[in-house]
Amino acid sequence: MAEPTKPQNADGTSTDLFPKQTAFNLGDVVTDAAKTLTEAERAKLQEQNKRMVTPFQALKLEQEARKHWDLFYKRNENRFFKDRHWTTREFGELLAGENPAGSVSSTQGEAPKNENEEKDTKTMLEIGCGVGNLIFPLIEDGHRDYFIYACDLSPRAVELVRKHNLYDERYMKAFTCDITTQEVYDTLAINSLDIVTLIFVLSAIHPEKFPSTVANIYRLLKPGGVVLFRDYGLYDMAQLRFKPGHKIAENFYMRQDGTRSYYFAEDEVSELFREAGFTVMVNSYIHRRTINPKEKIDVPRTFVQGKYRKPEQA
Ligand SMILES: C[S@@+](CC[C@H](N)C(=O)[O-])C[C@H]1O[C@@H](n2cnc3c(N)ncnc32)[C@H](O)[C@@H]1O
Repeated sequence: MAEPTKPQNADGTSTDLFPKQTAFNLGDVVTDAAKTLTEAERAKLQEQNKRMVTPFQALKLEQEARKHWDLFYKRNENRFFKDRHWTTREFGELLAGENPAGSVSSTQGEAPKNENEEKDTKTMLEIGCGVGNLIFPLIEDGHRDYFIYACDLSPRAVELVRKHNLYDERYMKAFTCDITTQEVYDTLAINSLDIVTLIFVLSAIHPEKFPSTVANIYRLLKPGGVVLFRDYGLYDMAQLRFKPGHKIAENFYMRQDGTRSYYFAEDEVSELFREAGFTVMVNSYIHRRTINPKEKIDVPRTFVQGKYRKPEQA
């Protein structure tokens, strides 16, 4: 029998065995394997199908996505998400000396639109920045290696970023943008970024819009530029907790507050980026137990984490 054809990256390398990132947290399991469900968990997932979100309701949620995230930030301001100090440990590309796009000029393609973006200034874009839990820890820890662009669908979140005491237009620019659309090109040029970070954001977007989102990221990056990705993984405990009446589509759910969340299979993410032309550098599930004996908390979490590079010859 003929060997099945192995999927390939844009540069011709095989994709079936992606390198795995080091486990940085004690107890993390970094693997290709999805969480194994118990009988009870399987039954809970089945139960969710008993009452699905209606197509009308689903369309309304999509049309009102901006409103729901804006209300989320009205209620929570900067109290909900924790500062993400782990990013430089797990994504070394964010640190000095690591220039993912090498010496490639930012002027390839269109000319830079921002005066801060001179030929050799390295630039990153934090998509779905929320209130700045990724960007401000970078500044706090002294990493001013990149000019930071930060965008979010919610104008209120962007406003909170702009009001932060570490916000400084010499080093950063926050702007409102729906990354699934062409809006981002009002601020950023094609082939202009060294790094794009996408941390718990793609899951908030309708699965039908994943390809247009990833295509935008591809266009924005310089050849050699890198996407740093982390998001909710398949069968994460938050997925298993949804009651009937919340499921919109396979692995896609509505929360009580109208925001939505998708839970990714590891190979689905690598495939999405590969299809858009990226080379997969690392891609895996991270299975983690968040244990706090004092508060009697033992929560199993599952994330998908990856790094994807736009080929030099793109
Ligand atoms: C779960 S939050 C994560 C926030 C932040 N990245 C973090 O990890 O703390 C998802 C964020 O994505 C933003 N978002 C949702 N859809 C978006 C879109 N189409 N374009 C840009 N941002 C979007 C939301 O407003 C929200 O701030």
